[in-house]
Amino acid sequence: MSLLKLLMHLSPFLVAHLFVSVIFILKARWHGKSEQDQQDVEDDHIKHVPGMPVRFSYQELCVATDNFNERLGRGGFGSVFKGKLGDGTQIAVKRLEKRGQGMSAFLAEAEAIGSLHHFNLVRLIGFCAEKSSRLLVFEYLSNGSLDNWIFTNVQGSFLDWQTRKEIILDIAKGLAYLHEYCRHTIIHLDVKPQNILLDSSFHAKIADFGLSKLINRDMSQVQISMRGTPGYLAPEWRQPLGRITVKVDIYSFGIVLLEIVCARRNVDQSQPESAFHLLTMLQKKGDHEDGVIDIVENLDEYTRSDREEITRMIKVAAWCLQDDPERRPLVSTVLKVLEGVMEVDSNIIYRFSHAMISSPPGNNHISSAPPPASVLSNPR
Ligand SMILES: Nc1ncnc2c1ncn2[C@@H]1O[C@H](COP(=O)(O)OP(=O)(O)OP(=O)(O)O)[C@@H](O)[C@H]1O
Ligand SMILES: [Mg+2]
Repeated sequence: MSLLKLLMHLSPFLVAHLFVSVIFILKARWHGKSEQDQQDVEDDHIKHVPGMPVRFSYQELCVATDNFNERLGRGGFGSVFKGKLGDGTQIAVKRLEKRGQGMSAFLAEAEAIGSLHHFNLVRLIGFCAEKSSRLLVFEYLSNGSLDNWIFTNVQGSFLDWQTRKEIILDIAKGLAYLHEYCRHTIIHLDVKPQNILLDSSFHAKIADFGLSKLINRDMSQVQISMRGTPGYLAPEWRQPLGRITVKVDIYSFGIVLLEIVCARRNVDQSQPESAFHLLTMLQKKGDHEDGVIDIVENLDEYTRSDREEITRMIKVAAWCLQDDPERRPLVSTVLKVLEGVMEVDSNIIYRFSHAMISSPPGNNHISSAPPPASVLSNPR
């Protein structure tokens, strides 16, 4: 019997009832689907949890960087390329060339670094981990790295004292957050002008914090590989039993501070032999503390009050550069001195073992033999 004949045999009431039921079922299914659609749209948004790093596909980053077309620079771990996201955000994409760890460890580390937020830290926007590709996506800082702005013999513009002073304060604030104010202590391990980036208003932000951990740490042991850059490495890196603590960063900060104030590199072979090494010059001047400012060239370009600040800053640098890590201040203490609420230690020992060693020329990156056991990121 056909469906039509069957319906004719049924009572009109039953037909009406059947009709309403069919409509109801169809509507319910359609409604369910649209709810699902809406949920999917919401899920798409949730992929970008505010404040958490986004996971990009390799293809998305190829598009964003126009196939890795514009290289911003190259460091110890790979190259950095400029890019732009769909919403117009400018990005710097670091393509890691060494594979140091498996997928899950990389993801965990990217998540950990991405959750660090401070105005003076370069923000990790996202990452990509696909097969053998490992990429990190950072906010783009239009004025590039500090080394292009503070050395008078480098081509390009040179920053005035006021701006350089603000930059020193910015670096100290970023470091204070890493060392003392975030949930875990993070030792940067590679504080140097190339890892300090400047935004369009010349605010300084620290880059590459925790990167050594991201790349080198073997999850089976709490050891870190020796890394850093000659000229910025604290003496304890050379000691077989030297403990690697936040004070290695304080030492590197001391060198950076000295370089910013003196507007030259710590080791500069283009200088006459007596001025070859800033640290050696500082050691010599240390006998008469008020003469430390003599290590700065072209002093007549500075006002009297600038010179007082410069003398103070050099003393802070010397405080940070002492051989004994215990004698170096915490960065929160440095901040207090920079902000003028505390005095520099009056008992600085101006004997720097590194002043005796001529550092290798250039800024070759080190990432090699494991040093004594130490933990890069300890619970506080
Ligand atoms: N977020 C960024 N915005 C703008 N420029 C950047 C950014 N990140 C890196 N760069 C540029 O790319 C260069 C290379 O950076 P990279 O971190 O790879 O090397 P590095 O800092 O010289 O050495 P290291 O490997 O020790 O960090 C930097 O010196 C800087 O000029
Ligand atoms: Mg770097």
